[in-house]
Amino acid sequence: MRIDVVSIFPAMFAAISEHGITARALERGLWSLECWNPRDFTHDAYRRVDDRPYGGGPGMVMLAEPLAAAIAAASQAAGDAGGHAGASPSHRIYLSPQGRPLTHDRVVELAAMPSLLLVAGRYEAIDQRLIDTRIDEEICIGDFVVSGGELPAMMLIDAIVRMLPGAVNDDESVLRDSFADGLLDCPHYTRPEVFESMPVPAVLMSGHHARIARWRRERALELTLARRPELIERARTAGRLDRDDERWLAAHPARDLGKGEGTG
Ligand SMILES: C[S@@+](CC[C@H](N)C(=O)[O-])C[C@H]1O[C@@H](n2cnc3c(N)ncnc32)[C@H](O)[C@@H]1O
Repeated sequence: MRIDVVSIFPAMFAAISEHGITARALERGLWSLECWNPRDFTHDAYRRVDDRPYGGGPGMVMLAEPLAAAIAAASQAAGDAGGHAGASPSHRIYLSPQGRPLTHDRVVELAAMPSLLLVAGRYEAIDQRLIDTRIDEEICIGDFVVSGGELPAMMLIDAIVRMLPGAVNDDESVLRDSFADGLLDCPHYTRPEVFESMPVPAVLMSGHHARIARWRRERALELTLARRPELIERARTAGRLDRDDERWLAAHPARDLGKGEGTG
């Protein structure tokens, strides 16, 4: 998969190109990353990428022209790399608080695309006409505002790259993560067997695989019911709950397990 990013802070992307699973997947050739700085597409001495908003008010707005030129250069490079001019264009995403909230299902869909172009905003906003003419989709990473689109873009890239076959050493672990099957993940334990007088749950030491799997499933149901009950409903509608799950849910009314403040 090819990913192009338009950002005035390309150096920030070393966080994913030089560290962890995303860096290893890059080395393995599972994806490629190219950054395009709109400042390189300005024509004035100050290399300006922002200006005051029409209508007044606080903050600055990113200029459409340098962004449009950076997107055009990135699109051309992606098309050339695709083997022929006019190869299917990259799907263009603007990271934005006004976008649709990102979900696991959308991450899986995006991971199946051959090329993506991500635009990271800064300041108050980017000129709306750029969004109207150059962007296919706006994505929000949560109901809060950060200072720029770089961290949201890196979060999106990380979520996508770990879905690429071979990116995570044990591909199965991705399937067991929260949201993959509609529920939150279960709790995990490792050595020592007793930590500050708290032993590991006995079932995990039993070696009984079916019982361990059931215990994990029930803890996942318990956590999801307590912290994100809407996910239980969604999993039910999607046919992701089996008869044992329904029996467990019927016997266990929702209760608050804490540590998930503000999540429902
Ligand atoms: C300071 S924010 C602009 C916030 C904007 N004035 C608003 O209230 O919606 C600057 C940039 O950060 C990025 N950004 C901030 N919060 C985001 C979020 N929750 N999801 C995705 N991108 C975000 C966007 O690219 C945005 O253009």
